[in-house]
Amino acid sequence: MWRWAIAAAVLISILLTVLIRHRRHRRRLLAELAIQRQGDVDQYPVTIQSTVEPGSLAEAFKREYIVRIENFVSPEYLQSLRAEAERSVPYMTPSFIPTHKKGRTLSYEKIHSHAPGCLGFYHSPVVHEWVTTIVGMPVFPTPDGDQSSLSILCYKEKGDHINWHYDHNFYRGRHFTVLLSLANESATGGLSQSNYLKKHPDGQDQVFGTSPNTMIVFEGARVLHKASPTTEGDLRIMLSMTYCADPRTNVLKEFARRVKDTAFYGIRALWD
Ligand SMILES: [Fe+2]
Repeated sequence: MWRWAIAAAVLISILLTVLIRHRRHRRRLLAELAIQRQGDVDQYPVTIQSTVEPGSLAEAFKREYIVRIENFVSPEYLQSLRAEAERSVPYMTPSFIPTHKKGRTLSYEKIHSHAPGCLGFYHSPVVHEWVTTIVGMPVFPTPDGDQSSLSILCYKEKGDHINWHYDHNFYRGRHFTVLLSLANESATGGLSQSNYLKKHPDGQDQVFGTSPNTMIVFEGARVLHKASPTTEGDLRIMLSMTYCADPRTNVLKEFARRVKDTAFYGIRALWD
């Protein structure tokens, strides 16, 4: 009996030591990436072409918790983001949860290596100002350790989708999701069959078109939403960003957030 207890205690202490060392290594790595990325923000300035006044969307956001803006950035800038995203497809993590989601995702950490322009967009003070004005409160990027703070979502195989869900908030302040459509096309050249939908409380579905260069700002904890399935030959790529009014969290919420992220990035999300 004592032998088993001692063996279990030794095993637990070894696992804890390995985990603590791994977490220290991860913190150092993420801190280094955070220092380096300022160069990307400076090197890839965002060129917004929309003439919409962001303040004019604040009332609609307050009422609906979602707004949509077409032709947000310049065509050349959009093309550069799309090219980065397409080059990154081999580095994306495939995911498949029967009946809930199927697709590929490039994590925040990998975006630091493969998509510096997308990284620059997420951290652009100009974009922060837009989102802040629309949602009516100062927002900040969510933490570096959250792999969904910035991600590239790619639906390129038949049946890729995500079913009805809320974007759960694991932070102290209100949490907002921003989607920028980088590509959305069918094999024949028109728009793909995959649409962004919002479910209204009365059960009605509302389609929010995501033609390329459309930006959607919404509060995912209040908006039940989904992306309907792609068909053969479709290509749909979204830059997905999350911002928060207060990005502090606690141990329990952090653990819950990691469990959620296993659906996108696999089991490593629990300790990475
Ligand atoms: Fe979502």
